Amino acid sequence: MKIPQHIAIIMDGNGRWAKKQNRPRSFGHYQGTENVRNIAIKANELGVKVLTLYAFSTENWKRPAEEIDFLMSIPAIFIERFLAELMEKGIRIKTIGDLEPIPEKTKKVLLRAIETTKDNSNMTLVFALNYGSRKEIVNGINKYVEDVNNNCAPYPLTEELFEKYLETSEFPEIDLLIRTSLDYRLSNFLLWQLSYSELYFTDIYWPQFTGDELVKAIEEFSNRQRRFGGLNE
Ligand code: FPP
Repeated sequence: MKIPQHIAIIMDGNGRWAKKQNRPRSFGHYQGTENVRNIAIKANELGVKVLTLYAFSTENWKRPAEEIDFLMSIPAIFIERFLAELMEKGIRIKTIGDLEPIPEKTKKVLLRAIETTKDNSNMTLVFALNYGSRKEIVNGINKYVEDVNNNCAPYPLTEELFEKYLETSEFPEIDLLIRTSLDYRLSNFLLWQLSYSELYFTDIYWPQFTGDELVKAIEEFSNRQRRFGGLNE
């Protein structure tokens, strides 16, 4: 089985999963958080180098305040529960997205976890938090224009140079995108970075997406032929 270096996941279906069992949406998010641990451990075991998870989008602010509050507390819950295990497995935490409007407590716990795990060299677990791809691209363009104005960047811009202005610049290309819960959308996630990625959609809700399901997705990825716009060999 060919292991993707970088997997990105849109973790959808927490709410629908909870509803099916007459539980509140927060219960779905809680189980979804437990599953982040399971999938991170499994991906690391399989040799994946980067796992990027869509934890909160710039559009998620439209949800009811109570749900937003809960979603905002999740990264701290996750870190408090699993930091020791992440250290043991050599997993490094990083974030993409604008942390500015994230509550202080969550931000503090996150920044501490990033610092504590920074020398871990197995897998990098990236949380996309208050992340929106269009915003990331526009921010990148603005930074580039500033650099040009300050004579710090050449003109014209190339694709390779622009990638350095994206928040994912230190990570390898995304090989595989997984979206759970059977919606066929990218939802403003990593639009530039997913240009050549393989896409995998499953009807399974995120809290039920097990390690075996991850292996199934990777097996399908392994069997696909990636041509990057060229011809078959
Ligand atoms: C989509 O399901 C899920 C989210 C908006 C949040 C996902 C967050 C987690 C799984 C936890 C993240 C964990 C960490 C550690 C940061 P939905 O609520 O839109 O489900 P629905 O479409 O069925 O209503």
